Amino acid sequence: MLNDLLDRNAVWSDQHRKNDPGYFTRLAGQQTPEFFWIGCSDSRVPANVVAGLDPGEVFVHRNVANVIHSSDMNMLSALEFAVDALKIKEIIVCGHYGCGGVKAATEDLPHGLADHWLEPIRRLARAYVVDLAQQDDAEARRDQLAELNVIEGVRRVAETPIMQRAWRGGAQVRIHGLIYGLKDGRLRDLDCTVGPGHFLAEAAQ
Ligand code: CO
Repeated sequence: MLNDLLDRNAVWSDQHRKNDPGYFTRLAGQQTPEFFWIGCSDSRVPANVVAGLDPGEVFVHRNVANVIHSSDMNMLSALEFAVDALKIKEIIVCGHYGCGGVKAATEDLPHGLADHWLEPIRRLARAYVVDLAQQDDAEARRDQLAELNVIEGVRRVAETPIMQRAWRGGAQVRIHGLIYGLKDGRLRDLDCTVGPGHFLAEAAQ
């Protein structure tokens, strides 16, 4: 299995060098991505592939069910580097329909550690129980919950001190919420974009 993977890598590398001899040399020199992608770890939703982007074009953080925990040092470190060092222009929080993490959050315990990780989604399900009940079946409810999780994620990223500081410093970076359809391979904009001027103190007034 591993040898297959290494063989595929060799073919991929050879093809790129044949088509563009300077390809890897350029990429090795510097990364200047315009996008920071926060998505689900699901193997069917690879950021570069579904967004049609090449290596070097998107900085990526993925976790189970693309949950934004405001104390997640991994996510926060990636966010800070993306905003402060890479000067990213667009941050994308991307969920997907048919998400196993969202499904687990709607089931009885226990899934082990995942139940701690997915707690924000359980909380969302409780908060939106009336809206979710309007859906015809469990799959539709989970898909709406996946959308709500993205919208909540966008807000949570916006509320981090990292983003608040960046916007007050004049950064023009925006945060978008997208959802990906496993059944049709399409990304949809959930129209919950926030950008410069989204300050916590004003939002609370
Ligand atoms: Co998922």
